[in-house]
Amino acid sequence: MARPRRIGILTAGGDSPGLNAAIRGIGKAAIGHHGMQVIGFRDGFRGLAEDRSVRLDARLSGILTLGGTILGTSRDKPHRMLVGGEIMDMTPSIVGTYEKHHLDALVCLGGDGTAKNALRLVRAGLNIITLPKTIDNDLVLTDATFGFATALDIATDAIDRLHSTAHSHHRIIVVEIMGHRAGWLTLGAGIAGGADVILIPEIPYSAESIAEAIRRRVRGGSNFSIVAVAEGAMNTEEAGPYAAAEARKRAASTPEEAVTAGQALGALEAAHAGNTMRLAAQLEALTGLESRVTILGYVQRGGTPSAADRLLATRLGCAGADLIRDGVFGVMVAARGEGTEPVPLELVAGKRKPVPPDHSWVLAARHVGTCLGD
Ligand code: F6P
Repeated sequence: MARPRRIGILTAGGDSPGLNAAIRGIGKAAIGHHGMQVIGFRDGFRGLAEDRSVRLDARLSGILTLGGTILGTSRDKPHRMLVGGEIMDMTPSIVGTYEKHHLDALVCLGGDGTAKNALRLVRAGLNIITLPKTIDNDLVLTDATFGFATALDIATDAIDRLHSTAHSHHRIIVVEIMGHRAGWLTLGAGIAGGADVILIPEIPYSAESIAEAIRRRVRGGSNFSIVAVAEGAMNTEEAGPYAAAEARKRAASTPEEAVTAGQALGALEAAHAGNTMRLAAQLEALTGLESRVTILGYVQRGGTPSAADRLLATRLGCAGADLIRDGVFGVMVAARGEGTEPVPLELVAGKRKPVPPDHSWVLAARHVGTCLGD
């Protein structure tokens, strides 16, 4: 009698609503439907490198509605991990843990960075699938990522509530929403919440254009405005150098070049910190309306997942268990309409899905009169 297949599960990158629903989905399907054994590894790829594991069989009940991840997560990379103060390639340790536990497959729940790390481990000989997780919704070749729907609900509810103080005090309320390099969450919540201005990284903004839109609203009798701004939104002066730094990072032909270009990019991102406060002050000066800032931050990643995310995470997890049964590896389980599709990790790793300038959401925002900063 062949021994039951054994699969490992880890969660990596930023936490998001739906991670536990996905762990439950793939775990229950693997154990109950396919007769497999399931073990979890703590804190992303670090737990794998350090062989910190936990049997999941009895831990899958009661986690569907839990936020965060019962396994813990990290942004550690297998090939460049800080160990004892040194940056080390922990791939051999990871392969050793995989073999020690006689794993037949490893499931990595994460975003584009996780897909990149997973692909490296595929090339080291491991059987791997990934599930698409991120509140940013910026993974290519999947219709959806779990975490996004819940964050969209949270950010939209926040915008709804911020309208109260905006019109009561005749103020500009600037609300910063997560999304360093992709504006899906800000654009979606801005439209759903009826923001008057929506600023996303993909469309550089001019403070004067925004101020003129606000002044136009005042002339029309609305002496308040809601400005939804993505963490990574930039003005036109910043956008050029940033795009150039991103291009240098993409063009890097050696790991050293990639690290140097990444550091330059990081320095520019650090310089953008505080942009939201600066923009609010600029708009107050340009329009004469008081402005106030609310930064939603990690609230958007917290708490119980929405029904939509629970459903998405469960069905992606079950599809993942089916792929393992069929011996399909080296893929991301992509959401495709009502179904799923295995997409080769080579097509996903390290790629991001920015908001296209002619996307239907962008056109809808413009057509209802929303200012997009340009
Ligand atoms: O990638 C998801 C995300 O929440 C981004 O929207 C945000 O900019 C980033 O993670 C924050 O990263 P960290 O959790 O490491 O601070």
